[in-house]
Amino acid sequence: MRNNDKNQEVDLGLRSFIKNLAYMTGGAAFLAGTAPWLTSCTEEKLKEIKKEKARIALIGSGSRGQYHIHNLLDIPHAELVTICDPYKTNLEAALAICPTAKGVDDYRKVLDDPSIDGVIIATPLHLHAKITLDSLLAGKHVFCEKAMARTMDECKSVYDSYVRSDRALYYCMQRMYDQKYITGIKMIKDGLIGDVVGMRCHWFRNADWRRDVPTPDLERWINWRLYKEYSGGLMTELGSHQLEVCNWAAGKIPSKIMGMGDIVFWKDGREVYDSVNVTYRYSDGRKICYESLISNKYNGMEEQILGHKGTMDLSRGVYYLEEDDLIPGMRQLLDQVKTGVFAAVPTAGPSWRPELKSDYVPHPVIKGSVSVNSGQSMVSSDHDGSDEILSAFCQSCITGEKAENVVEEAYYSTLLCLLGNKAMEECATIDFPEEYKIPYMSF
Ligand SMILES: NC(=O)c1ccc[n+]([C@@H]2O[C@H](COP(=O)([O-])OP(=O)(O)OC[C@H]3O[C@@H](n4cnc5c(N)ncnc54)[C@H](O)[C@@H]3O)[C@@H](O)[C@H]2O)c1
Repeated sequence: MRNNDKNQEVDLGLRSFIKNLAYMTGGAAFLAGTAPWLTSCTEEKLKEIKKEKARIALIGSGSRGQYHIHNLLDIPHAELVTICDPYKTNLEAALAICPTAKGVDDYRKVLDDPSIDGVIIATPLHLHAKITLDSLLAGKHVFCEKAMARTMDECKSVYDSYVRSDRALYYCMQRMYDQKYITGIKMIKDGLIGDVVGMRCHWFRNADWRRDVPTPDLERWINWRLYKEYSGGLMTELGSHQLEVCNWAAGKIPSKIMGMGDIVFWKDGREVYDSVNVTYRYSDGRKICYESLISNKYNGMEEQILGHKGTMDLSRGVYYLEEDDLIPGMRQLLDQVKTGVFAAVPTAGPSWRPELKSDYVPHPVIKGSVSVNSGQSMVSSDHDGSDEILSAFCQSCITGEKAENVVEEAYYSTLLCLLGNKAMEECATIDFPEEYKIPYMSF
Protein backbone atom coordinates (compact mmCIF):
# COMPACT_ATOMS: atom_id res chain seq x y z
CA MET A 1 0.00 0.00 0.00
CA ARG A 2 1.24 3.48 -0.83
CA ASN A 3 0.95 5.40 2.37
CA ASN A 4 0.51 9.09 1.77
CA ASP A 5 1.29 10.07 5.38
CA LYS A 6 4.55 8.17 5.15
CA ASN A 7 5.20 9.79 1.80
CA GLN A 8 4.78 13.20 3.22
CA GLU A 9 7.07 12.32 6.11
CA VAL A 10 9.80 11.07 3.80
CA ASP A 11 9.39 13.97 1.47
CA LEU A 12 9.47 16.59 4.17
CA GLY A 13 12.49 15.02 5.86
CA LEU A 14 15.10 17.03 4.04
CA ARG A 15 12.92 20.09 3.75
CA SER A 16 12.24 20.41 7.49
CA PHE A 17 15.91 19.68 8.08
CA ILE A 18 16.83 22.63 5.82
CA LYS A 19 14.33 24.84 7.63
CA ASN A 20 15.65 23.88 11.07
CA LEU A 21 19.25 24.29 10.06
CA ALA A 22 18.53 27.68 8.52
CA TYR A 23 16.68 28.68 11.68
CA MET A 24 19.48 27.50 13.98
CA THR A 25 22.14 29.24 11.95
CA GLY A 26 20.29 32.53 11.75
CA GLY A 27 18.77 32.49 8.28
CA ALA A 28 19.20 30.87 4.92
CA ALA A 29 22.73 32.21 4.39
CA PHE A 30 24.17 28.81 5.24
CA LEU A 31 22.53 27.40 2.13
CA ALA A 32 24.50 29.67 -0.16
CA GLY A 33 27.74 28.79 1.64
CA THR A 34 27.23 25.09 2.26
CA ALA A 35 24.74 23.57 -0.16
CA PRO A 36 23.25 26.14 -2.57
CA TRP A 37 21.40 23.41 -4.48
CA LEU A 38 19.01 23.08 -1.54
CA THR A 39 17.47 26.52 -2.14
CA SER A 40 15.30 25.11 -4.93
CA CYS A 41 13.67 22.43 -2.77
CA THR A 42 12.52 24.13 0.40
CA GLU A 43 9.29 23.29 2.23
CA GLU A 44 7.77 26.64 1.18
CA LYS A 45 8.44 25.95 -2.51
CA LEU A 46 7.00 22.45 -2.16
CA LYS A 47 3.79 23.92 -0.74
CA GLU A 48 3.51 26.26 -3.72
CA ILE A 49 3.20 23.39 -6.19
CA LYS A 50 0.12 22.17 -4.27
CA LYS A 51 -1.20 18.93 -5.79
CA GLU A 52 0.63 19.15 -9.10
CA LYS A 53 2.45 16.05 -10.30
CA ALA A 54 5.48 15.89 -12.55
CA ARG A 55 5.02 13.42 -15.41
CA ILE A 56 8.19 11.35 -15.44
CA ALA A 57 9.69 8.73 -17.76
CA LEU A 58 12.46 6.32 -16.78
CA ILE A 59 15.07 5.46 -19.41
CA GLY A 60 17.04 2.37 -18.39
CA SER A 61 15.20 0.03 -16.05
CA GLY A 62 17.99 -2.14 -14.68
CA SER A 63 19.08 -2.34 -11.09
CA ARG A 64 19.36 1.40 -10.37
CA GLY A 65 16.34 2.28 -12.53
CA GLN A 66 14.16 -0.10 -10.53
CA TYR A 67 15.48 1.39 -7.29
CA HIS A 68 14.39 4.84 -8.56
CA ILE A 69 10.92 3.47 -9.37
CA HIS A 70 10.46 2.48 -5.72
CA ASN A 71 11.49 5.98 -4.62
CA LEU A 72 9.29 7.65 -7.26
CA LEU A 73 6.24 5.76 -6.04
CA ASP A 74 6.77 7.41 -2.65
CA ILE A 75 6.98 10.96 -4.03
CA PRO A 76 3.54 12.62 -3.91
CA HIS A 77 4.38 15.19 -6.60
CA ALA A 78 5.51 12.61 -9.19
CA GLU A 79 3.82 10.22 -11.58
CA LEU A 80 5.83 7.62 -13.48
CA VAL A 81 4.11 7.42 -16.86
CA THR A 82 6.60 5.64 -19.14
CA ILE A 83 9.43 3.15 -18.71
CA CYS A 84 11.88 2.64 -21.55
CA ASP A 85 14.32 -0.22 -22.01
CA PRO A 86 15.19 -2.23 -25.12
CA TYR A 87 16.09 -5.19 -22.89
CA LYS A 88 12.75 -6.94 -22.36
CA THR A 89 13.68 -8.79 -19.15
CA ASN A 90 14.42 -5.56 -17.28
CA LEU A 91 11.51 -3.68 -18.84
CA GLU A 92 9.08 -6.36 -17.68
CA ALA A 93 10.58 -6.43 -14.18
CA ALA A 94 10.21 -2.64 -13.95
CA LEU A 95 6.64 -2.65 -15.25
CA ALA A 96 5.80 -5.25 -12.60
CA ILE A 97 6.79 -2.66 -9.95
CA CYS A 98 4.71 0.08 -11.60
CA PRO A 99 2.02 -1.58 -13.75
CA THR A 100 0.31 1.75 -14.55
CA ALA A 101 3.31 2.92 -16.59
CA LYS A 102 3.56 2.37 -20.33
CA GLY A 103 6.54 0.32 -21.58
CA VAL A 104 8.56 1.38 -24.64
CA ASP A 105 11.78 0.08 -26.20
CA ASP A 106 13.27 3.27 -27.67
CA TYR A 107 13.97 6.49 -25.76
CA ARG A 108 13.01 8.57 -28.81
CA LYS A 109 9.41 7.57 -28.12
CA VAL A 110 9.74 9.17 -24.69
CA LEU A 111 11.23 12.36 -26.10
CA ASP A 112 8.49 12.59 -28.76
CA ASP A 113 5.78 12.52 -26.08
CA PRO A 114 4.95 16.15 -25.24
CA SER A 115 3.09 15.15 -22.07
CA ILE A 116 6.33 14.03 -20.36
CA ASP A 117 7.99 16.73 -18.23
CA GLY A 118 11.17 15.01 -17.15
CA VAL A 119 13.28 11.92 -17.75
CA ILE A 120 15.41 9.81 -15.44
CA ILE A 121 18.42 8.31 -17.19
CA ALA A 122 19.72 5.12 -15.55
CA THR A 123 21.50 3.51 -18.48
CA PRO A 124 25.15 2.43 -18.67
CA LEU A 125 27.61 5.35 -18.54
CA HIS A 126 28.48 5.53 -22.26
CA LEU A 127 24.87 6.54 -23.04
CA HIS A 128 24.52 9.27 -20.42
CA ALA A 129 25.75 12.15 -22.57
CA LYS A 130 23.86 11.27 -25.76
CA ILE A 131 20.52 10.72 -24.03
CA THR A 132 20.97 13.83 -21.85
CA LEU A 133 21.76 16.03 -24.86
CA ASP A 134 18.81 14.64 -26.84
CA SER A 135 16.49 15.06 -23.87
CA LEU A 136 17.48 18.68 -23.22
CA LEU A 137 17.04 19.40 -26.91
CA ALA A 138 13.56 17.85 -26.76
CA GLY A 139 12.70 20.24 -23.91
CA LYS A 140 12.71 17.68 -21.10
CA HIS A 141 14.07 18.23 -17.62
CA VAL A 142 16.73 15.60 -16.92
CA PHE A 143 17.81 13.56 -13.92
CA CYS A 144 20.82 11.49 -14.94
CA GLU A 145 22.71 8.94 -12.95
CA LYS A 146 26.31 9.69 -12.13
CA ALA A 147 28.87 9.91 -13.58
CA MET A 148 28.21 12.67 -16.08
CA ALA A 149 29.69 10.99 -19.19
CA ARG A 150 32.21 8.48 -20.48
CA THR A 151 34.62 11.08 -21.95
CA MET A 152 35.81 14.58 -21.07
CA ASP A 153 34.60 15.98 -24.40
CA GLU A 154 31.13 14.60 -23.75
CA CYS A 155 31.14 16.18 -20.29
CA LYS A 156 32.01 19.55 -21.81
CA SER A 157 29.25 19.24 -24.46
CA VAL A 158 26.68 18.43 -21.81
CA TYR A 159 27.83 21.29 -19.60
CA ASP A 160 27.71 23.78 -22.50
CA SER A 161 24.22 22.62 -23.52
CA TYR A 162 22.99 22.87 -19.98
CA VAL A 163 24.25 26.44 -19.65
CA ARG A 164 22.36 27.38 -22.83
CA SER A 165 19.22 25.48 -21.83
CA ASP A 166 16.38 26.60 -19.55
CA ARG A 167 15.76 23.02 -18.43
CA ALA A 168 16.74 21.60 -15.02
CA LEU A 169 19.52 19.01 -15.01
CA TYR A 170 20.35 16.89 -11.98
CA TYR A 171 22.99 14.23 -11.44
CA CYS A 172 22.34 11.57 -8.86
CA MET A 173 25.14 12.53 -6.50
CA GLN A 174 22.98 11.67 -3.52
CA ARG A 175 25.48 12.74 -0.86
CA MET A 176 24.67 16.35 -1.77
CA TYR A 177 21.15 15.75 -0.40
CA ASP A 178 22.14 13.55 2.55
CA GLN A 179 21.57 15.25 5.90
CA LYS A 180 24.69 13.88 7.56
CA TYR A 181 26.89 15.10 4.70
CA ILE A 182 25.28 18.54 4.62
CA THR A 183 25.62 18.90 8.40
CA GLY A 184 29.17 17.56 8.39
CA ILE A 185 30.28 19.94 5.63
CA LYS A 186 28.67 22.83 7.46
CA MET A 187 30.62 21.87 10.60
CA ILE A 188 33.84 21.79 8.57
CA LYS A 189 33.09 25.20 7.07
CA ASP A 190 32.33 26.51 10.58
CA GLY A 191 35.84 25.47 11.66
CA LEU A 192 35.10 22.43 13.84
CA ILE A 193 38.09 20.43 12.60
CA GLY A 194 40.32 23.46 12.01
CA ASP A 195 42.13 23.95 8.71
CA VAL A 196 41.44 21.17 6.24
CA VAL A 197 44.89 19.74 5.55
CA GLY A 198 44.10 16.66 3.46
CA MET A 199 41.59 13.98 2.58
CA ARG A 200 41.53 10.20 2.48
CA CYS A 201 38.80 8.35 0.65
CA HIS A 202 38.50 4.72 -0.08
CA TRP A 203 35.96 2.17 -1.20
CA PHE A 204 36.79 -1.47 -0.62
CA ARG A 205 34.54 -4.36 -1.58
CA ASN A 206 35.02 -8.06 -2.07
CA ALA A 207 32.96 -9.04 -5.09
CA ASP A 208 33.71 -9.51 -8.75
CA TRP A 209 31.18 -6.94 -10.01
CA ARG A 210 29.90 -9.52 -12.49
CA ARG A 211 26.29 -10.24 -13.23
CA ASP A 212 24.85 -13.49 -14.57
CA VAL A 213 24.42 -13.46 -18.31
CA PRO A 214 21.57 -15.54 -19.81
CA THR A 215 23.33 -15.95 -23.19
CA PRO A 216 26.96 -15.12 -24.12
CA ASP A 217 25.93 -12.48 -26.69
CA LEU A 218 24.59 -10.37 -23.80
CA GLU A 219 27.92 -10.31 -21.91
CA ARG A 220 28.78 -6.69 -22.76
CA TRP A 221 25.18 -5.50 -22.46
CA ILE A 222 24.80 -6.87 -18.94
CA ASN A 223 28.40 -6.54 -17.70
CA TRP A 224 29.04 -3.13 -19.29
CA ARG A 225 30.83 -1.97 -16.10
CA LEU A 226 33.79 -4.24 -16.88
CA TYR A 227 34.58 -2.84 -20.34
CA LYS A 228 36.22 0.48 -21.13
CA GLU A 229 33.97 1.27 -24.06
CA TYR A 230 31.03 1.69 -21.69
CA SER A 231 32.52 2.33 -18.28
CA GLY A 232 35.20 4.25 -16.41
CA GLY A 233 35.53 1.38 -13.92
CA LEU A 234 35.98 1.98 -10.21
CA MET A 235 36.68 5.68 -10.69
CA THR A 236 33.37 6.60 -12.35
CA GLU A 237 31.30 3.97 -10.56
CA LEU A 238 32.55 4.61 -7.02
CA GLY A 239 35.11 7.42 -6.96
CA SER A 240 32.80 9.99 -8.58
CA HIS A 241 30.70 10.23 -5.41
CA GLN A 242 33.71 10.53 -3.14
CA LEU A 243 35.68 13.04 -5.18
CA GLU A 244 32.62 15.27 -5.29
CA VAL A 245 32.57 15.24 -1.49
CA CYS A 246 36.26 16.21 -1.34
CA ASN A 247 35.78 19.22 -3.63
CA TRP A 248 32.70 20.22 -1.67
CA ALA A 249 34.70 20.16 1.57
CA ALA A 250 37.82 21.82 0.12
CA GLY A 251 35.96 24.46 -1.92
CA LYS A 252 38.60 23.91 -4.62
CA ILE A 253 39.41 21.62 -7.52
CA PRO A 254 42.71 19.68 -7.62
CA SER A 255 45.16 20.79 -10.28
CA LYS A 256 47.46 17.73 -10.50
CA ILE A 257 46.61 14.06 -10.76
CA MET A 258 48.81 10.96 -10.55
CA GLY A 259 48.00 7.31 -9.99
CA MET A 260 48.47 3.63 -10.57
CA GLY A 261 45.84 1.10 -11.54
CA ASP A 262 45.97 -2.65 -12.08
CA ILE A 263 43.96 -5.79 -12.47
CA VAL A 264 45.28 -7.61 -9.42
CA PHE A 265 42.76 -10.33 -8.70
CA TRP A 266 39.76 -10.50 -11.03
CA LYS A 267 41.67 -11.63 -14.13
CA ASP A 268 38.52 -12.78 -15.91
CA GLY A 269 38.69 -10.90 -19.19
CA ARG A 270 37.58 -7.56 -17.80
CA GLU A 271 39.28 -4.41 -19.04
CA VAL A 272 38.81 -2.04 -16.10
CA TYR A 273 41.13 -2.00 -13.08
CA ASP A 274 40.10 -3.82 -9.91
CA SER A 275 42.66 -1.87 -7.88
CA VAL A 276 43.21 1.89 -8.14
CA ASN A 277 45.31 4.38 -6.16
CA VAL A 278 45.12 8.00 -7.26
CA THR A 279 46.57 11.11 -5.64
CA TYR A 280 44.94 14.45 -6.37
CA ARG A 281 46.89 17.57 -5.44
CA TYR A 282 45.32 20.99 -4.90
CA SER A 283 47.43 24.01 -5.87
CA ASP A 284 48.01 24.78 -2.16
CA GLY A 285 49.60 21.37 -1.56
CA ARG A 286 46.66 19.58 0.05
CA LYS A 287 46.01 16.12 -1.31
CA ILE A 288 43.22 13.62 -1.75
CA CYS A 289 44.48 10.10 -1.30
CA TYR A 290 41.99 7.91 -3.21
CA GLU A 291 41.98 4.14 -3.13
CA SER A 292 39.59 1.42 -4.26
CA LEU A 293 39.97 -2.34 -4.35
CA ILE A 294 37.28 -4.98 -4.95
CA SER A 295 39.01 -8.10 -3.66
CA ASN A 296 39.22 -7.16 0.04
CA LYS A 297 36.58 -5.32 2.03
CA TYR A 298 38.34 -4.85 5.36
CA ASN A 299 38.53 -1.06 5.11
CA GLY A 300 34.97 -0.54 3.86
CA MET A 301 33.94 2.84 2.50
CA GLU A 302 35.08 6.09 4.05
CA GLU A 303 35.46 9.75 3.23
CA GLN A 304 37.75 11.33 5.79
CA ILE A 305 38.31 15.06 5.79
CA LEU A 306 41.43 15.72 7.84
CA GLY A 307 41.77 18.97 9.78
CA HIS A 308 44.49 20.14 12.15
CA LYS A 309 41.97 19.98 15.02
CA GLY A 310 40.00 16.90 14.03
CA THR A 311 38.73 14.48 11.40
CA MET A 312 35.31 14.38 9.81
CA ASP A 313 34.28 10.95 8.57
CA LEU A 314 31.35 11.94 6.40
CA SER A 315 30.28 8.49 5.27
CA ARG A 316 29.99 7.25 8.83
CA GLY A 317 28.44 10.47 10.06
CA VAL A 318 30.98 10.92 12.88
CA TYR A 319 33.85 13.23 13.71
CA TYR A 320 36.90 12.87 15.96
CA LEU A 321 38.70 15.69 17.72
CA GLU A 322 42.47 15.74 18.14
CA GLU A 323 42.08 17.01 21.71
CA ASP A 324 40.16 13.84 22.66
CA ASP A 325 43.42 12.07 21.95
CA LEU A 326 45.36 13.99 24.59
CA ILE A 327 45.80 11.16 27.05
CA PRO A 328 48.95 12.19 28.92
CA GLY A 329 52.04 10.22 27.99
CA MET A 330 52.53 9.32 31.67
CA ARG A 331 49.09 7.65 31.81
CA GLN A 332 49.89 5.66 28.71
CA LEU A 333 53.13 4.48 30.33
CA LEU A 334 51.31 3.45 33.54
CA ASP A 335 48.72 1.54 31.45
CA GLN A 336 51.56 -0.28 29.75
CA VAL A 337 53.09 -1.25 33.11
CA LYS A 338 49.67 -2.57 34.18
CA THR A 339 49.14 -4.67 31.05
CA GLY A 340 52.76 -5.67 30.64
CA VAL A 341 52.64 -4.73 26.94
CA PHE A 342 55.22 -2.09 26.18
CA ALA A 343 55.33 0.17 23.16
CA ALA A 344 56.94 3.50 22.46
CA VAL A 345 54.98 6.54 23.68
CA PRO A 346 56.26 9.34 21.49
CA THR A 347 55.55 12.66 23.15
CA ALA A 348 56.20 16.29 22.43
CA GLY A 349 56.42 19.39 24.61
CA PRO A 350 56.23 19.78 28.36
CA SER A 351 52.71 18.29 28.63
CA TRP A 352 53.89 14.89 27.39
CA ARG A 353 51.29 15.21 24.70
CA PRO A 354 51.26 12.14 22.42
CA GLU A 355 52.10 12.94 18.81
CA LEU A 356 50.72 9.73 17.43
CA LYS A 357 47.24 8.27 17.34
CA SER A 358 45.86 6.66 20.50
CA ASP A 359 42.14 6.67 21.32
CA TYR A 360 39.70 8.88 19.52
CA VAL A 361 36.09 9.23 20.63
CA PRO A 362 33.54 9.23 17.78
CA HIS A 363 31.07 12.11 17.98
CA PRO A 364 27.90 11.78 15.86
CA VAL A 365 27.40 14.52 13.27
CA ILE A 366 23.64 14.30 13.81
CA LYS A 367 22.60 13.46 17.37
CA GLY A 368 20.91 10.10 17.75
CA SER A 369 22.12 8.80 14.42
CA VAL A 370 24.00 5.57 14.00
CA SER A 371 25.87 4.64 10.87
CA VAL A 372 25.21 1.24 9.35
CA ASN A 373 26.37 -0.71 6.27
CA SER A 374 29.94 0.52 6.70
CA GLY A 375 28.65 4.05 6.76
CA GLN A 376 26.62 3.79 3.57
CA SER A 377 23.41 4.86 5.20
CA MET A 378 22.24 5.62 8.67
CA VAL A 379 19.46 4.74 11.02
CA SER A 380 17.16 7.65 11.82
CA SER A 381 16.68 8.00 8.15
CA ASP A 382 17.67 4.92 6.26
CA HIS A 383 17.81 7.14 3.20
CA ASP A 384 21.10 8.07 1.61
CA GLY A 385 19.82 11.19 -0.17
CA SER A 386 18.75 9.36 -3.36
CA ASP A 387 15.07 9.77 -2.56
CA GLU A 388 15.55 13.43 -1.62
CA ILE A 389 17.44 14.41 -4.76
CA LEU A 390 14.82 12.64 -6.89
CA SER A 391 12.07 14.48 -5.05
CA ALA A 392 13.90 17.78 -5.66
CA PHE A 393 14.14 16.92 -9.36
CA CYS A 394 10.40 16.18 -9.62
CA GLN A 395 9.76 19.53 -7.93
CA SER A 396 11.98 21.24 -10.53
CA CYS A 397 9.98 19.53 -13.31
CA ILE A 398 6.95 21.47 -12.02
CA THR A 399 8.57 24.78 -11.07
CA GLY A 400 11.21 24.85 -13.83
CA GLU A 401 13.79 25.98 -11.26
CA LYS A 402 17.32 24.68 -11.80
CA ALA A 403 19.25 23.31 -8.82
CA GLU A 404 22.28 25.51 -8.32
CA ASN A 405 25.73 23.92 -8.82
CA VAL A 406 24.59 20.30 -9.12
CA VAL A 407 25.81 20.11 -12.72
CA GLU A 408 29.09 21.85 -11.87
CA GLU A 409 29.77 19.43 -8.99
CA ALA A 410 29.03 16.46 -11.26
CA TYR A 411 31.14 17.93 -14.05
CA TYR A 412 34.29 18.34 -11.98
CA SER A 413 33.98 15.08 -10.08
CA THR A 414 33.53 13.19 -13.37
CA LEU A 415 36.47 15.00 -14.95
CA LEU A 416 38.63 14.02 -11.97
CA CYS A 417 37.61 10.36 -12.38
CA LEU A 418 38.43 10.41 -16.08
CA LEU A 419 41.73 12.20 -15.46
CA GLY A 420 42.50 9.65 -12.73
CA ASN A 421 42.01 6.88 -15.30
CA LYS A 422 44.20 8.74 -17.80
CA ALA A 423 46.96 9.22 -15.22
CA MET A 424 46.85 5.50 -14.36
CA GLU A 425 46.83 4.40 -18.00
CA GLU A 426 49.75 6.67 -18.91
CA CYS A 427 51.59 6.24 -15.58
CA ALA A 428 52.00 10.01 -15.67
CA THR A 429 51.35 13.10 -13.56
CA ILE A 430 48.70 15.16 -15.32
CA ASP A 431 47.84 18.84 -14.97
CA PHE A 432 44.12 19.58 -15.07
CA PRO A 433 43.70 20.62 -18.75
CA GLU A 434 42.87 24.32 -19.25
CA GLU A 435 40.33 23.60 -21.99
CA TYR A 436 38.11 21.66 -19.58
CA LYS A 437 37.98 24.32 -16.85
CA ILE A 438 34.57 25.91 -16.29
CA PRO A 439 33.69 28.99 -14.24
CA TYR A 440 33.13 27.19 -10.93
CA MET A 441 35.43 27.06 -7.89
CA SER A 442 39.13 27.82 -8.10
CA PHE A 443 42.08 25.55 -8.74
N1 LIG B 1 23.98 6.93 -7.63
C1 LIG B 1 24.31 5.73 -7.26
O1 LIG B 1 24.66 5.48 -6.12
C2 LIG B 1 24.28 4.62 -8.26
C3 LIG B 1 24.18 3.28 -7.85
C4 LIG B 1 24.13 2.28 -8.81
C5 LIG B 1 24.18 2.60 -10.16
N2 LIG B 1 24.31 3.90 -10.54
C6 LIG B 1 24.38 4.27 -11.96
O2 LIG B 1 23.17 3.92 -12.60
C7 LIG B 1 23.42 3.59 -13.97
C8 LIG B 1 22.80 2.22 -14.26
O3 LIG B 1 23.43 1.26 -13.46
P1 LIG B 1 22.72 -0.16 -13.22
O4 LIG B 1 23.47 -0.87 -12.20
O5 LIG B 1 21.26 0.03 -13.02
O6 LIG B 1 22.97 -0.86 -14.64
P2 LIG B 1 22.08 -2.00 -15.26
O7 LIG B 1 22.91 -2.66 -16.28
O8 LIG B 1 21.46 -2.83 -14.19
O9 LIG B 1 20.89 -1.20 -15.97
C9 LIG B 1 21.07 -0.44 -17.13
C10 LIG B 1 19.82 -0.57 -17.96
O10 LIG B 1 19.89 0.30 -19.09
C11 LIG B 1 19.32 -0.39 -20.18
N3 LIG B 1 19.71 0.22 -21.44
C12 LIG B 1 20.82 0.01 -22.18
N4 LIG B 1 20.77 0.76 -23.30
C13 LIG B 1 19.60 1.46 -23.26
C14 LIG B 1 18.98 2.40 -24.11
N5 LIG B 1 19.53 2.79 -25.26
N6 LIG B 1 17.78 2.93 -23.74
C15 LIG B 1 17.21 2.57 -22.58
N7 LIG B 1 17.75 1.68 -21.73
C16 LIG B 1 18.93 1.14 -22.07
C17 LIG B 1 19.79 -1.82 -20.01
O11 LIG B 1 19.03 -2.72 -20.77
C18 LIG B 1 19.62 -1.99 -18.52
O12 LIG B 1 18.33 -2.45 -18.19
C19 LIG B 1 24.93 3.62 -14.14
O13 LIG B 1 25.31 4.85 -14.69
C20 LIG B 1 25.45 3.51 -12.73
O14 LIG B 1 26.69 4.15 -12.55
C21 LIG B 1 24.34 4.89 -9.62
